[in-house]
Amino acid sequence: MTVKIFDTPEVQDFLKTVSGFDQSGGDERAKQIMHRLLSDLYKLIDDFDVTPEEYWSAVSLLNALGGQTQFGLLSPGLGFDHYLDMRQDAIDAEARRVGGTPRTIEGPLYVAGAPEAEGFARMDDGRDTDGETLWLTGQVRDVDGNPIAGARVEIWHADSKGGYSFFDPTQSEYNLRRTIVTDAEGRYTARSIVPSGYGVPEGSPTDQVLKLLGRHGERPAHIHYFISAPGHQHLTTQINLAGDPYTFDDFAYATREELVIPANRIEDADEIARRELDGPFSEVTFDIVLTATDDPELQHRHARPRAKEDEQDKASQLAGTAKV
Ligand SMILES: [Fe+2]
Repeated sequence: MTVKIFDTPEVQDFLKTVSGFDQSGGDERAKQIMHRLLSDLYKLIDDFDVTPEEYWSAVSLLNALGGQTQFGLLSPGLGFDHYLDMRQDAIDAEARRVGGTPRTIEGPLYVAGAPEAEGFARMDDGRDTDGETLWLTGQVRDVDGNPIAGARVEIWHADSKGGYSFFDPTQSEYNLRRTIVTDAEGRYTARSIVPSGYGVPEGSPTDQVLKLLGRHGERPAHIHYFISAPGHQHLTTQINLAGDPYTFDDFAYATREELVIPANRIEDADEIARRELDGPFSEVTFDIVLTATDDPELQHRHARPRAKEDEQDKASQLAGTAKV
């Protein structure tokens, strides 16, 4: 079929009407963005000769995604999270905020309000016996190499089955989630368990989209971080453990070369005893460099609906219902 109607005055006028251009109320930016979005989609329907069957199956898929609050999962899968990071990197480069540890995506599984500790925290509740002990440590510094005491290092990760507490109701509250405030030398240390990678749920709407693209929905084993300190730019990042089959094939595109960290397996009896453990463990060292900024806005994580972030906010409540 060769029917093309997008460029006709009738369709162009219709797009303006649908986008509320002839209405005095509403939000001007929303109108402009909706007009562009609808124009691109209408043109796509014309160019690809999209059939009613295809259109309504897409609507049905969107309903399924929303019904299971999976847009936060599909978003990194379609590269939006990484694209926003690429843009933020470019903004930082232009403002000469450079030399810090690279950022990478937050993902949808953060939960606000984890317990806080000074210098050291144990993150696991001791119930995940399949998870080998992980000794996670590092130093927070500024770009000149000076340690930053009192920095807040917030860490969260999955258990040995790839599940996150809160979203996985079988885990205890705030399991594998802690905020550690760095000591006088800028150091933080956590005792935890080695996380497993995980994939999007088989057969879920996100999985259906990825399968249509011939892609998998797997992530390598990784550990999420928020790091903040007064006078420095807030950093959202994560480390990927080296050696995972998906380290460089992450469906969420979070891997960055500088953030791939090897886990050292320690079997030395003295080292085991020194940490009061009863068997071999893995040690991961992740030092963090923060860039300086006077802008108070940049010193805190950007706003986003997050589980338990704001009990009054409906979007935050919804973020907490994600089935992933
Ligand atoms: Fe994650």
